[in-house]
Amino acid sequence: MPDQRAEDEENPPTVIAVASQKGGVGKTVTTVNLACRLAMAGYDVAVLDLEPQAQAGSALGVELTGDLIRRSLGLVLQHTVQNVPSAAVTEIMFDASEVLSQYEDAGKLFVIASEESTMTAAQNVFITQPFTATPTLRRMILSQLTGVVDCVIIDTPPAVSSLNALAIAASDYVLTLCNPEYQTVKGAFLLKPTVEAMAELTRGECTPSYLGSIFNISNPESKRTNQDVAIHNSMVRGGLLPFVTDIRKDTRISESYLHKRPAVVRYLKHAPGKQYTALVEEILERIGSPAPEWKVAAEWAESDVEAAEESVDA
Ligand SMILES: Nc1ncnc2c1ncn2[C@@H]1O[C@H](COP(=O)(O)OP(=O)(O)OP(=O)(O)O)[C@@H](O)[C@H]1O
Ligand SMILES: [Mg+2]
Repeated sequence: MPDQRAEDEENPPTVIAVASQKGGVGKTVTTVNLACRLAMAGYDVAVLDLEPQAQAGSALGVELTGDLIRRSLGLVLQHTVQNVPSAAVTEIMFDASEVLSQYEDAGKLFVIASEESTMTAAQNVFITQPFTATPTLRRMILSQLTGVVDCVIIDTPPAVSSLNALAIAASDYVLTLCNPEYQTVKGAFLLKPTVEAMAELTRGECTPSYLGSIFNISNPESKRTNQDVAIHNSMVRGGLLPFVTDIRKDTRISESYLHKRPAVVRYLKHAPGKQYTALVEEILERIGSPAPEWKVAAEWAESDVEAAEESVDA
């Protein structure tokens, strides 16, 4: 990613999708916290919500009801692919910078919002299109954000759908997530080949890179279970390139949804803030260097679990 606001006018934004076929792993929570943390560091950021449930928008206080439905990304997607005159993305997006009002040096935070009926209709329109329509989001919509934001973070639905293909094709980088539950690893493993196949499927137009996996809702080291260790180690051994920083299970992260301010904004100096800060640093380091130089989490020792279990028993 370029330095904050450096040569804004020419550089298209860096686009990162947060994706997994598995539901409930923390895609939305991760999207909004990463976006806010980047904006708190001075970047101008847009959260793009491709999820019909529209939770990324509502986590930032943007909900499309009544007349506001006309500002759904779902409508812009439908009109664009059908060659019908469409609103510009800069006309439909919301300025949610107020979420970061306590941070004077923060950049702008925008939301390109979703709404269920219009986004589901967009999904159905793309199902009937040839694969050549898949770069539409990148080519026709995100291209309008050059000079407007430094970075776009895309929240995606938990499925293999036309919307997921749009998100991956639109991205420069794709992040995935695992939890201490075996089924989540499968969702992450399915994603990596999809990202890698995109260049060929779009004849070189879209070239997303797989950026790594985040272990989310993990237990603290002192309470690590055999399952935490087994899953973390399968992420390492399976080439999912887990980040060194995990995001721990923390009710401050889940409760922040109700306050319309993500945990990193409300608890910057506490555990959630520190973890997202470290994660953003790792993400920026990976973006700025070739994959062989990336710092990747090492396997965890099983003896850690035994020690923790003994201390719980004691
Ligand atoms: N680190 C965490 N600590 C505590 N709760 C978390 C954490 N991460 C996510 N959650 C909670 O887990 C639930 C699922 O998270 P989230 O909605 O972000 O997942 P998702 O992958 O976007 O789900 P979906 O697939 O339905 O879109 C939410 O209730 C969220 O608040
Ligand atoms: Mg979600």
